[in-house]
Amino acid sequence: MEQTWKRLLPTVFCLEAGEKEALLPQDILGSRKKEEKLLTMEEAALPVQLCGSAVRIDRNGALFTMPVSEKERFYGLGLQMHSFLQNGKRKRLTTNADAPGDTGDSHAPAPFFVSSAGYGILADSARTVEVDFGCSVRCGQRGDDGAGSVADNTQELYQEKQRGQEVTIFIKGAPGLRLYCFVGGTIKGAVEQYNLFCGGGCLPPLWGLGNLYRCYTQMTQEGVEALLCQLEKERMPFSMIGLEPGWQSHAYSSSLVFGDAFPHPERLFETAQEKGVKVNLWEQAYVHPSSPIFQKIKPYSGEYEVWGGVAPDFAFKKAREIYGAHQQKLIRMGAAAMKLDECDGSDYTGHWFFPDYARFPSGLNGEEERNLYGAMVARTIEEAYRREDRRTFSQIRANYSHGAPLPFVLYSDLYDHGQFLRALCNAGFSGLLWSPEVRQSQSAEELVRRVQAVVFSPLSLINAWMVPNPPWKQFDIDQNKRNELLEDSVLQERVRRLLGVRNRLVPYLYAAFFRYEQDGTPPFRPLVMDYPQEERFWETDDCYMMGDFLLIAPILADTGQTGREVRLPEGGWYDFWTGERYVGGQDYWLETEEIPVFVKENSMLPLAEETDMPGRDTVFSLEVRLYGENPKPFCLVEDDGESFAYERGEQRALWLEKTEDGVRMPESYRYRIERVVQMGMGDGGMRE
Ligand code: GAL
Repeated sequence: MEQTWKRLLPTVFCLEAGEKEALLPQDILGSRKKEEKLLTMEEAALPVQLCGSAVRIDRNGALFTMPVSEKERFYGLGLQMHSFLQNGKRKRLTTNADAPGDTGDSHAPAPFFVSSAGYGILADSARTVEVDFGCSVRCGQRGDDGAGSVADNTQELYQEKQRGQEVTIFIKGAPGLRLYCFVGGTIKGAVEQYNLFCGGGCLPPLWGLGNLYRCYTQMTQEGVEALLCQLEKERMPFSMIGLEPGWQSHAYSSSLVFGDAFPHPERLFETAQEKGVKVNLWEQAYVHPSSPIFQKIKPYSGEYEVWGGVAPDFAFKKAREIYGAHQQKLIRMGAAAMKLDECDGSDYTGHWFFPDYARFPSGLNGEEERNLYGAMVARTIEEAYRREDRRTFSQIRANYSHGAPLPFVLYSDLYDHGQFLRALCNAGFSGLLWSPEVRQSQSAEELVRRVQAVVFSPLSLINAWMVPNPPWKQFDIDQNKRNELLEDSVLQERVRRLLGVRNRLVPYLYAAFFRYEQDGTPPFRPLVMDYPQEERFWETDDCYMMGDFLLIAPILADTGQTGREVRLPEGGWYDFWTGERYVGGQDYWLETEEIPVFVKENSMLPLAEETDMPGRDTVFSLEVRLYGENPKPFCLVEDDGESFAYERGEQRALWLEKTEDGVRMPESYRYRIERVVQMGMGDGGMRE
């Protein structure tokens, strides 16, 4: 079928074919477009691949096909846990908790992918989108993939390979198709254009970049208050505490009001506030009959229940208003963040969710609602915070396309550590954030490795929902439950130190998130985004960049390994912990108790004090580290750290510049330079 891509913006093209569906994700989630910024971009040409594309619409659904060259590589499709490079794969993108295999099922299956040729494609559909990267072969088009010889093992026999010469996007049952193409010149550039189109990245409040402790699920108000005192007394630097389902009078599903176990919520919020700690509330979006909003929201919900509650139709304005108004009440009480659990549905752990054929008042069916559910709930909650002029940094277990502006970090605990890290890398391709949360461990070493990875992730999260005592007092879940605690505090000291390092990184991270907000540059991204020329990084899914200057290479927690190999990109690099200089473009085996972290040569790193608890009134005392002889100026950002005033222009970029005798910074109420340290010039030595 004849089809034409139309230019929407200098770097964005759109293809529409067939009949338009009543509600597409862009209509529901897409109102935040950073149009002004996108209009300033230089006009890009439509990628040649798309000039050869074709569309077919018939009773099967809508099919888009484009030719692919052997050299092109594809990444993305949201939070893929099981694979990184997508060539040769066919993925059916369905929102699903705890996907056991590499099928496309995911907590956040965004139908958006990027190509190494520097463009990205978004299939704007809430239906299950199937994307095929050269896995299927049209008759007569097979390339030479060795077919003909039979492998003598199943791994090779069933290995997915790129055999075909086209990429297809198929949307079963769809009467039409709407695709967007973002041209950025590089993978990173294409992702930036996509993120800007979705509304730019989220900007967390300052406190959101600190550490979060999620309490034991059976803890009462008294228990939580005692824990707050204990954490303070033992100087464990947490700026957020999370209550699990039990704060409510009913869960699962959610009543969304405090129950008997929390008789004085105002007192709890006050106690937390006195200690500079924000409170995060666990919720399910399924509303229980005992909830004060049940009667009001029921008519605007789907025809099937989930966990005994109604599933509001968040595509329907009235449902958003009712749910959002109730959230505002909780926000006014003091709830600074939410954890929206189980909005992903599951086919693998108990089949709990509404079925695909469920009808909803907006006209979307169960399949479409399911894919969009997390994103729509997140949007509803974000809008409630916005109406209160307060920013949040919350958690959600499902998301979709258009994720960048939503201040929600994805989580789940049912994966191994390697999958956690791969998800962190993959999230960066699709405007998503993921936290490889810490839970119970088999050994003290494993716990430390897990904490190391979370403090260098989007959300530094210790999830102790299953254990009454903090995991650093007993890492073993059964012993923890029996209150058999470790005799010494060695483990606690190690964890405290790491949580302190997270606090030190807040100014740097805040700057990276600001860039995400303004330019769409993901604050956490796989190495292939920054170093696309280096072939060795094309499949690297266990190392990533945090901001522009830090390379993070966690040591896997659950393998018992004490070291790992790290390939450093070309150029000079410095060990974050020792200041030792490394020559890039080489492999290093690192046997270390620390998490390997490297700082790029000729950069500046502003580090706060471990005790600087991030919040509205914090004045960060900075140690500015200079790496190399010509560190680039670094841009810190100053605003109230909590409201949306920055969108109204109340923010300032503060450029730190190296001078002959130190570092110059404009006067600031937020940051104070305590000392400047030139790294790697002394006895740090050099490794080649
Ligand atoms: C799970 C969630 C956990 C915890 C638990 C509480 O679904 O992943 O983090 O919140 O529910 O019941």
